Amino acid sequence: MKILVVGGGGREHALCYSMRGNELLCAPGNPGIESLARCYPDISAESIDSLVALAVDEKVDLVVVGPEVPLSLGLADQLIARKIPVFGPTREAAFIEASKAFAKELMLESGVPTASYKEFTSEIEARVHIENTQSPYVLKADGLAAGKGVVVAMTKEEALSSLPQVFSVNGKLIIEEFLKGVEVSFIIATDGERVVPLSTAHDYKRIFDNNDGPNTGGMGTVSPTPRIDISRTNELVTLVISPILKSFRERGTPFCGFLYAGLMIDGESVKVVEYNCRMGDPEAQSILPRFEGDAAKLFYALATKGELPEVKFSKQVCVSVVLAAPGYPGEVKKGGVIEGIEFASSLKNIAIFHAGTKKNAEGQIVVNGGRVLNITGFGENLEGARQNAYRAADMIQFAGRQIRRDIGK
Ligand code: AMP
Ligand code: GLY
Repeated sequence: MKILVVGGGGREHALCYSMRGNELLCAPGNPGIESLARCYPDISAESIDSLVALAVDEKVDLVVVGPEVPLSLGLADQLIARKIPVFGPTREAAFIEASKAFAKELMLESGVPTASYKEFTSEIEARVHIENTQSPYVLKADGLAAGKGVVVAMTKEEALSSLPQVFSVNGKLIIEEFLKGVEVSFIIATDGERVVPLSTAHDYKRIFDNNDGPNTGGMGTVSPTPRIDISRTNELVTLVISPILKSFRERGTPFCGFLYAGLMIDGESVKVVEYNCRMGDPEAQSILPRFEGDAAKLFYALATKGELPEVKFSKQVCVSVVLAAPGYPGEVKKGGVIEGIEFASSLKNIAIFHAGTKKNAEGQIVVNGGRVLNITGFGENLEGARQNAYRAADMIQFAGRQIRRDIGK
């Protein structure tokens, strides 16, 4: 098949890797993706018209969309209008990620367990609510904020001081109950009706070891996660996936694509923290390398309502470690030269995914984004995969490199 992959990060590199037997195009792509796909660095993942024109001109069989922004701008709707199969939800369905308030409403309507919450469109009312209730507080901006719209405040003072910034994202926020437990990323692929669970994963959201420091997009990931037994997969589908897909169908806006449920697990209790309308990043970098066979067959079958292939994941464990840029998750210093990628790639049981890299005028690979590279190690068990990942990660250096040492520990 001829397939256009939209995006240019580590997740899209992993998506290309999982479909590597096919003729791949990627917009914008990155220097790592170049070895698997023809890249279009001048077409950003947000230039909807250019992406649609590319898909039409190249007569692609399928478009697979990585990030949430083009989905919430209606890329899938435009492709569907031109009869181009697309794996990724329409604008209306992508709203499940674009609006925290909508996601909450949908969860309530569908009977999905989640934290109780209150919605505010007035900063003063939110302030009064904080004053009158007990810590901890979870403040969430309504609207896409690239993982930076959520503050978990353990004290009243912290909640009050972060309120203006959260409120300013969109003039609307929710404050919700703090959930205890461990987080699991449960991601499925669907055509709106049929559900294909992918292997589970968990990620590490904070920048520093022991979950310290500010939230990031994710500093590492493990698949499968030891935090929940695989025998609970059907229970999870019944509890947090099927009711949401049913609500979408009843609203006349069926959801096709990856549906990502961020879960808080506390013993038997399962609650949804958030939904994303896409594959996780960096979860993709630990889940997709374990996919056996050609993932394109699955995405195509779902996008066209065709017959599903058998889906299997390898028994191996994957641990993926993020190398982040200096300054991340704040303002990032770009341009530093990265050394050692080739050496690290030559190791066994390793896959390296580029996220924020580019080639400079001299042809060197340099830092070009917050999360720079994902180093995925394979192993017979968690510890083996961890050792492989860190051995390769430590061969790659650049000025100000940030890395967590406790991924998979
Ligand atoms: P979100 O963008 O909603 O996934 O939130 C980002 C992160 O904040 C989550 O991955 C959790 O670590 C944390 N978080 C969000 N909501 C809650 C909650 N209700 N209770 C505890 N932690 C939360
Ligand atoms: N790693 C979390 C996310 O993709 O939203």
